[in-house]
Parts: sequence; structure tokens; C-alpha cells
Amino acid sequence: MIKKTNNKSIKLIKFYNFINYNLIYNNKAINRYKKDVFQISGNKADKLDKLKKSINNIKNCEFKKNAKNIVFADGNPKAKIMIVGEAPGSNEDLEGIPFVGRAGALLDKMLASIDLNRRNVYITNVVNYRPPDNRRPTEEEINRYLPYLKKHIEIINPKILVLLGSTALNALVGNEVVISKARGKWIEKQFGECKTSIIVTFHPAFLMRQPAQKKMAWIDLKMIREKKTNLKI
Ligand code: URA
Repeated sequence: MIKKTNNKSIKLIKFYNFINYNLIYNNKAINRYKKDVFQISGNKADKLDKLKKSINNIKNCEFKKNAKNIVFADGNPKAKIMIVGEAPGSNEDLEGIPFVGRAGALLDKMLASIDLNRRNVYITNVVNYRPPDNRRPTEEEINRYLPYLKKHIEIINPKILVLLGSTALNALVGNEVVISKARGKWIEKQFGECKTSIIVTFHPAFLMRQPAQKKMAWIDLKMIREKKTNLKI
């Protein structure tokens, strides 16, 4: 009987972890699980809420014809490290959470290798809806979402901004830069009031196709770890 209950509990814990719920085991049924709610100041919460609503209101965007959900962000809005990917894929579209598919599993491992996780980073994408057939967003689409992404960065106000892959690099640093040259270097940049140190590294989906490049990503991850120690994050 005990064994049966334990197995059931383990399955439930796995399920709630999978759907990104933080299980709080407690005798009161109402408290058995709670979403990871980070206590953020009213102002920041309001600004994020407003930003999400404005993205919801974007018109004439082809993504919205097929996308099931907006994929706004995941992680801790109080985090000092913000991560920007490219675009949601099918798993992200279904769940409304960035990086929950295979690339997300690798991202979680990359973060764990430098003692980070979704409770101490904040994650979003260049565009907030799944592009049809998982194609790369066009320049016009990137530019449509860019003011919202910049606002998002301003609101979160990270000390370290990690750009995953060339779409995030080109959107936020410039089209003239190539990832092979830009990665592994700190780039200082300001978004509104937010002064931040940017580092570009390879996108986990690229690393799955080109595992030999993981050694370069590891160099970038160690740079993040060092910066985080220096900044006492
Ligand atoms: N790839 C991305 O760039 N973002 C996601 O959210 C998932 C996969």
C-alpha cells in the first residue's frame, strides 16, 4: 500500500515538474501544489502584465493564425540573468512556456552546469508565438516583436543578458555580426534605463545538431559563471 502511494506521489511530482508547477507537499489539499509564484513588486508585475497584453494585441502577424498560445516567459522575474532564445516550437506553443522541448532540456543542463536553473534566471524569446513549420522568423517579424523584447529587457533589468543563437544576436546586437565571432565576448549595452552585459552563445538546438561545438558553449558558460561571481549575483 505504502509502495503504491509512493509511486503515485512520484508520478505526480514528475507530472507537476513537467508542467512547471512547484509541488508543495502539505496535508491540506489546497496547498498540495502551487505554481511558482515569485513575489515581485506591483510595479514590475503590472508592467509585465501590460507588456503581455500588448503582445497579445499585435495585429497582422502570420504566427497568430496557427499558434495556440502566447509564449511570454518562464523563470524568475527578479533574476539578474535573462536568457533570450529565438522562437517557440511546438511543445512551447502547446504549453505556453519557453524551452520545454528537447532544446529546453539541453538548456536546463547547460544552466545546471553553472549552478543555474529556472528559479534564478528569466527566459524569453525574440518572438512570442510559434512560427509556422518552426521556420526562422523573417526580419519583418523580428522587427515587429523587437520593441516588445526591448521593453521586456528594460522591465526585467538583468545584469547579464544571454543571447542564444544568431536570431537573438542579430535582433539585439546587429545584423552585421556573426555568431562565430561574437560568441565568448562581453558586449556592454543599454536598453532604456537597463545597462547590461551581453554574452552570446550557441542555441541548444544548434548544439544538438553540432555536438562538437559544445566545448565552445562550455567556454561561454564558464564566462557567465565567472561574471556572476564577480557581480555577486
Ligand atoms: N527554441 C527557442 O528558441 N525557444 C524556445 O522557446 C524553444 C526552442
